[in-house]
Amino acid sequence: MSARPRILLTRRWTEEVERYLAERFDVTLNDSDVPMNAAALRDAMRDHDALCPTVTDRIDDSVLAAESRRVQLIGNFGVGYNHIDIEAAKRLGIRVSNTPDVLTDTTADLAILLLLMTTRRAGEGERELRAGRWTGWRPTHMMGQSLAGKVLGLIGFGRIAQATARKAHHAFGMRIAYNGRRRASTAVEQETGAEFIDSVDELMAVCDVVSLHCPGGASTFHLVNAERLRLMKPGAVLINTARGPVIDEAALVTALTGRHIAAAGLDVYEEEPRVHPGLLQLENAVLLPHLGSATVETRTAMGMRVAQNLEAYFAGAPLRDPVV
Ligand code: DGY
Repeated sequence: MSARPRILLTRRWTEEVERYLAERFDVTLNDSDVPMNAAALRDAMRDHDALCPTVTDRIDDSVLAAESRRVQLIGNFGVGYNHIDIEAAKRLGIRVSNTPDVLTDTTADLAILLLLMTTRRAGEGERELRAGRWTGWRPTHMMGQSLAGKVLGLIGFGRIAQATARKAHHAFGMRIAYNGRRRASTAVEQETGAEFIDSVDELMAVCDVVSLHCPGGASTFHLVNAERLRLMKPGAVLINTARGPVIDEAALVTALTGRHIAAAGLDVYEEEPRVHPGLLQLENAVLLPHLGSATVETRTAMGMRVAQNLEAYFAGAPLRDPVV
């Protein structure tokens, strides 16, 4: 019988990482790649030493407190961990790790993609062309908005927001404003060209584009609600690569339908993979299926970062990326 730690990956990972892990651990794969339900997750907690979930798994108290639990470490594949009940993990003495850093630029690139797609109406243009409705070039055809000199406001100013600021400022000449739990260092502010605004309401009111980069969870639930959408400048754009529930989607549909704001670019949704039906009808909504970190290089790096945490834990060393 193998003395290697037993680990379970709740979804398929890149081949390279699955191979790497299989050489070092006794790995259970979810061959179907269908999300596991709570009962299956609870069973897995009894049969493994570590569980490696993703954002599609709800690791709540009932899963963590599974009777006869054997799991000691939750090695999350992803930087965000609002799908894991961290308080319950603390109470039960279960360690949790995540995968920061390795997806920073890839996710910031996707925020920039949404910034360009919304302001230049790229989804709308492609749909028009594919539908055979394009009648040819003309000076007033599908005009968007230029970025140079416009103000990009970031809510949350962690690694991904700062990378987004850097790209928007240095590549597109945007001015940057931000609101976060604390003020960044002067060096970061200077390098990203960012100005701190100490109220979310004020930031919503003065920016041409608002991009969300705060964590999910109770403290940011519907942070962007009907009132805050009303505060936005007419013709402004909203981007979300953070977590869906940060925006009240029903209120966003109303704001987009009335054209109070020009467009929204979304990569995340309140009830993934369900998308609010109102959003699907709107030409001025750019909708991507949670692709923030989806490059082969980054998804492999994320898996390898989980591997590093597993290796450290089972060698009795400190976790590389401890959440708790
Ligand atoms: C992350 O890393 O948080 C991504 O959104 C996937 O979970």
